[in-house]
Amino acid sequence: MKINVATTDITAVATPALVVNLFSGVKAPGGATGAVDAALDGAISRLIEDGEIKGKQGELTLLHTMGKIGPARVVVAGLGKQDDFDADVARRVSSEALRYLRQRGVCQAVTIAHGAGVGGLSPEAAGRAVAEGSLLGLYRFDRYHSKNNGASGDSEEGDGEFAELTIAERDAARAQAIRDGAAQGRIVAEATLIARNMVNEPANVMNPTAMAETARWVAQEYGLGFETLDNAQMKEMGMGAFIGVAQGSDEPAKLIILTYEGDPDNPGNNLGLIGKGITFDTGGISLKPAGGMESMKGDMAGGASVIAAMQIIAQLRPRINVTGMVAATENMPGGSAQRPGDVVRAMNGKTIEVINTDAEGRLVLADALCLARQRGLTRLVDIATLTGAMVTTLGKACTGVMGNDAALIDGVIQAGHQTGEKFWELPMFDEYKELIRSDVADMKNSGGRQAGSISAAFLLKEFVEGAAWAHLDIAGTSTSEKASGYLVKGATGAPARTLAQLAVNLANGS
Ligand code: BES
Ligand code: MN
Ligand code: ZN
Repeated sequence: MKINVATTDITAVATPALVVNLFSGVKAPGGATGAVDAALDGAISRLIEDGEIKGKQGELTLLHTMGKIGPARVVVAGLGKQDDFDADVARRVSSEALRYLRQRGVCQAVTIAHGAGVGGLSPEAAGRAVAEGSLLGLYRFDRYHSKNNGASGDSEEGDGEFAELTIAERDAARAQAIRDGAAQGRIVAEATLIARNMVNEPANVMNPTAMAETARWVAQEYGLGFETLDNAQMKEMGMGAFIGVAQGSDEPAKLIILTYEGDPDNPGNNLGLIGKGITFDTGGISLKPAGGMESMKGDMAGGASVIAAMQIIAQLRPRINVTGMVAATENMPGGSAQRPGDVVRAMNGKTIEVINTDAEGRLVLADALCLARQRGLTRLVDIATLTGAMVTTLGKACTGVMGNDAALIDGVIQAGHQTGEKFWELPMFDEYKELIRSDVADMKNSGGRQAGSISAAFLLKEFVEGAAWAHLDIAGTSTSEKASGYLVKGATGAPARTLAQLAVNLANGS
């Protein structure tokens, strides 16, 4: 989709649709919406008076202008209460308005920059929010629908692709700020969509080799260091925990490493992003039940978010060194698969009793975290669809965050406030550590039914060896069950935007 910023008169511009907005409780709209209302002889204020337009968030009202003004249609998008307004509301409203138009076959529109007026956003922030929300919300994963065969999946959707969005702003100086913001929004959204694609792709396509090739493309396109380790190299390096998982699959495993040098003179100024990249999780010998197993193609969402975050970071260029790692393998029950009861030794020498081969994410991450420490990274964030217990605990509204460093955990949460991705901290009380005590090894990989997300985090903690560390369990937030705001059904791309924002904030010392 093309996104332009233009200094046009919105009442005169010839366009199939114009999107304006309204806060709830406003009786006489001002600003851009007021100008359109006046040009339509009070049609909007009349609908407000009648109670048909309330300005509630998510409310969309379509007016046909019948040649009275330039735009053929006007969509009035409710922004909700002015006190609750922020950039995330602007992202959601932009997205929903454009999806609404696309459903009606309208694939070109002019919009005002939601929030740049009384909403209190800077023109740049508003431009970014509109572009980011629009691109994220219009995303569809439809590459496996053969065209024109009548099997177009979602029947409520128009088939057209949204072609062009113009953000209108009267003041030329503000228009330039909106343009800068929109460019940033595009950088962030396009990378997030690459993460969504990786997660939505079936596992026969998005295998570890394909993930590595995607990362290689990102590295070449945006100028990042790129490297992979194969099974033999990982074995040689003593990554027994990772290899234990990988050995059940015929697909070659990959440990993917992307590097960004934003502060080469200060190696201590670093951030490591470590993603779980299980491209399909059958459970291994501890086989999962058949119902819903297809969703385990998305068990590499943490890794996908790391690759996407690196793509954003490469373009925003914060002053910090960032390394992204993805521990990519399938978890299959092949003839060489590991067995329950096996004991594996990770790269740092610690041993793990494999009680349940379905608790594989923590095993591959254990060795990736060791490698991150060996490479001198002192600030680590791992991202993983780690536990079903996370979905039980927090559902799909927010990501669970655990760790050993209050400042880093808080940094993630605060970055999430900026991106609209929600995080909630779970406790790491010493009492929980007992859950993974093993009779035969240093620890066991399953803590049983109690506090499953926390006991998983305690295993990871054994491999961060003195680094500041935060663990993000995205089992619930990596996919959405329905279209809502700028999310669509399927992969969300979370938390790529927050990881990039964290890097930017750390670089700025905030
Ligand atoms: N990939 C799963 C966790 C998961 C479940 C993610 C549902 C998204 C949705 C993980 O590898 C797993 O199987 N975890 C087990 C751990 C248990 C065996 C200790 C689980 O949560 O049941
Ligand atoms: Mn599993
Ligand atoms: Zn898994």
